Amino acid sequence: MVLTNHHPRKVAVVGTGNVGATFAYALLMSGLASEIVLIDANVSKAEGEAMDLNHAVPMHSPTRIWAGSYEDCAGAAITVITAGSAQRPGETRLDLIQRNAGIFRSIVENVVKNNPGGIILVATNPVDVLTYATWKFSGLPANRVIGSGTILDTARFRYLLSQTFEVDPRSVHAYIIGEHGDSEVPVWSLANIAGMRLPDYCAANDMGCRQEGLESIFTQTRDAAYEIITRKGSTYYAIASGLMRIVEAILRDQATVLSVSTYIEDYYGIKDVYLSLPSVIDQGGIERTIHLDLNEEEIAGLKRSASVLKDTIGTIKF
Ligand code: 2OP
Repeated sequence: MVLTNHHPRKVAVVGTGNVGATFAYALLMSGLASEIVLIDANVSKAEGEAMDLNHAVPMHSPTRIWAGSYEDCAGAAITVITAGSAQRPGETRLDLIQRNAGIFRSIVENVVKNNPGGIILVATNPVDVLTYATWKFSGLPANRVIGSGTILDTARFRYLLSQTFEVDPRSVHAYIIGEHGDSEVPVWSLANIAGMRLPDYCAANDMGCRQEGLESIFTQTRDAAYEIITRKGSTYYAIASGLMRIVEAILRDQATVLSVSTYIEDYYGIKDVYLSLPSVIDQGGIERTIHLDLNEEEIAGLKRSASVLKDTIGTIKF
């Protein structure tokens, strides 16, 4: 789908906490956006971030950056929502639903009123549930409402696998699907390096491929945010890079396959929920979701994840 009447390189960021500000910085450095508008309930925080980022512009591509209001979302190709509370040590992502669902209705209504033709990309947790809420509150077609979902977990998974297999993480093809959270599912059956499933790769290359080692890679992936939050309070570099990757796929119309939170109409019988699956992303948003040939255990895991998400969606008033 081709976007019309939109400045192709304007990006709005709602929420200038660690994730929003780091994403804006990554976007400035990428040179992909010509305009970046920062919106935050705490106007002085948005202003401070805009000033600081503007002082970096002379070292990068010319980019217009300012602290604005929702009217400034007009014409943005993408509005990235990062606003809301983050987890405190010991909290799950789903624990945040009451705190964050409350503010989402007005944020989304304000964005859509000023920019009915753009794409909304949600990063706030619990991201799958809030992306579903954004789709409902916005009235936009589902292909234009995307959640960052497991792009981050997939990156963590590939990074950890790359350490074990001693190759560039970009040469590891493996996905985490389902909830961005405790019920997420590793797709071991399709994970591959150089087109070889991992057990075949290990056998052909004389590498040990012990089951316990692989299981530990998944637990480290799933629990990474808890480990980071315990140590530094929050996570933001990797999620900001994930947001950048999605924004790049949209602005450059790349048709890239990324695991993002997407509306599920019917997938192995799963319906009416947002969760992550590898999806093709281009300038229209989600072009399509790829059907994976999953094994029984993975299908059961995905169904469990969908049901956890649906239970939390059920607590929101639409
Ligand atoms: C993360 O996984 C907290 O969802 C955030 O880093």
